[in-house]
Amino acid sequence: MGGGHPDPTLIQGSIDETLRYDPSVPVWRRLTKHPVTIAGFEIPEGAKLFLWLAAAGREPTVFSDPDRFDMPRDNAKHHLAFGKGMHFCIGSALGKLEARLALEALTTRSPASGSPKARSSRSTRTSAPGGRRRYGRPPPPRLTFS
Ligand code: HEM
Repeated sequence: MGGGHPDPTLIQGSIDETLRYDPSVPVWRRLTKHPVTIAGFEIPEGAKLFLWLAAAGREPTVFSDPDRFDMPRDNAKHHLAFGKGMHFCIGSALGKLEARLALEALTTRSPASGSPKARSSRSTRTSAPGGRRRYGRPPPPRLTFS
């Protein structure tokens, strides 16, 4: 996309692709209530399972070129970042809505920059008299979509 303005139509796809590529909940737990066979493995009752949801997002039989961050990826939403089954995250729609609103606000209010050198290195925090910290108005973030 170079140094132009970001394409807002990529936002929706970028949210699921981000959840696939680097989920904020990488592992989750399950306790088996009865014996179960998963992918040929027999698991007894009472087993404590540690499920790598993040690894599922990089599964090459589901996602082509899985280590590439690809915003328009057509099956990105097949990730397991919100779990699966009866305990599937009830906040998934809210989480994605919040992400979309934040990205829309950022991309419409901030000019995109294709050059990493153009990024500001100023801190968003400044010291106030008396040693207290106060939060100054941050410089506009510069986003790079490429
Ligand atoms: C990007 C944001 C979020 C991620 C990645 C996330 C991820 C997860 C995961 C992995 C689970 C376990 C699902 C399973 O056991 O199969 C879960 C469950 C849950 N999440 Fe989220 N979550 C997010 C946001 C939210 C929000 C915003 C809320 C509430 C407003 C929420 C409420 C819950 C609740 C209540 C459960 C338990 C559901 C159950 O046990 O039946 N989550 N979430």
